[in-house]
Amino acid sequence: MKNQIESLQKEIDDFRINDNQTLEKYRIEFLSKNGKVQKLFDDFKSVSIDQKREIGQKLNLLKTVSENKYNESKEAIIKTTSNIGIEVPDFSLPEIPNEDGTIHPLSQVLEKIIKIFSGIGYDLSDGPEIEDDWHNFTALNFPPNHPAREMQDSFFINKNPDILLRTHTSNAQVRIMESGKMPIRIISPGRVYRNEVISARAHCLFHQVEGLYINKNVSFKELKDTIYYFVKAMFGDNTKVRFRPSFFPFTEPSAEVDISCLICHGKGCNVCKYSGWVEIMGCGMVDTQVLENCNINPNEFSGFAFGMGLERITMLHYQIKDLRLFFENDVRFLRQFQNQNI
Ligand code: DAH
Repeated sequence: MKNQIESLQKEIDDFRINDNQTLEKYRIEFLSKNGKVQKLFDDFKSVSIDQKREIGQKLNLLKTVSENKYNESKEAIIKTTSNIGIEVPDFSLPEIPNEDGTIHPLSQVLEKIIKIFSGIGYDLSDGPEIEDDWHNFTALNFPPNHPAREMQDSFFINKNPDILLRTHTSNAQVRIMESGKMPIRIISPGRVYRNEVISARAHCLFHQVEGLYINKNVSFKELKDTIYYFVKAMFGDNTKVRFRPSFFPFTEPSAEVDISCLICHGKGCNVCKYSGWVEIMGCGMVDTQVLENCNINPNEFSGFAFGMGLERITMLHYQIKDLRLFFENDVRFLRQFQNQNI
């Protein structure tokens, strides 16, 4: 028995514990219920009475030494691994700053516009940014030599057949009308492109939101009511609205919509150019020629359309004076729109 204790002691001494796996292997081999130390304790029963005292002491010592080795190794492993942050998190470390991103002001305002219109039954519809002449111009009643078709206004990708970056979201009108499902009640937000000199008020890339409602017996009054509803929901109940007669090739009659200046409330300032009013969108009854171009019978259906610039609405909403800020991705600008709940 003494020999067995000695050889097990040697075995324990020689066992190398380097990591959690070898630690566990050690525990199972020596300290577990079926381990080698316990096995000797089981055999201890058969030791003769006169040897029990001496052997018992040796056995107890072996048990203590083997358990100490286990505990010390375990602690050493925890120390080395926690230094590199794998096993045990160090809760005393300072927190890692969690910087939240912000939603771009244009996206915030667009979300609000979508919410307002979806609340009165408008669906979302999409149109391509790369468009052909028919959907961007011809179907919308632009005469063949209209200046908007010229190279200086549009970015053409191909000439003959003409393919261009859409100059407005009105192409979405044509595409949805051509699909032939009635009635139509959609808004279509998206990017548009124009060959403009970039300044505080103009950019070659900006966003519009197009609206279209086609049904039987749609009247101009419904158009006005819809715009009134939108303006009040977007800018507040006290905002005044006025319609000015205007011209677009694809609507007849056409109007431009002004709202009372949000900054000076009608008194006059440099944003409203001292008129007390700012323009926010174009609109009108869809021209019968446009309906026909899209295979809709103008004797059966009528409708209205409107189109607004998202940057313009956002600039008014947040009183931003330079359009270029939207596209520069300067975090000092973008951070100001954190936690906005518009
Ligand atoms: N497409 C026009 C533009 O880019 C905006 C517009 C005006 C859209 C009147 C419409 C509308 O749907 O009815 O300036």
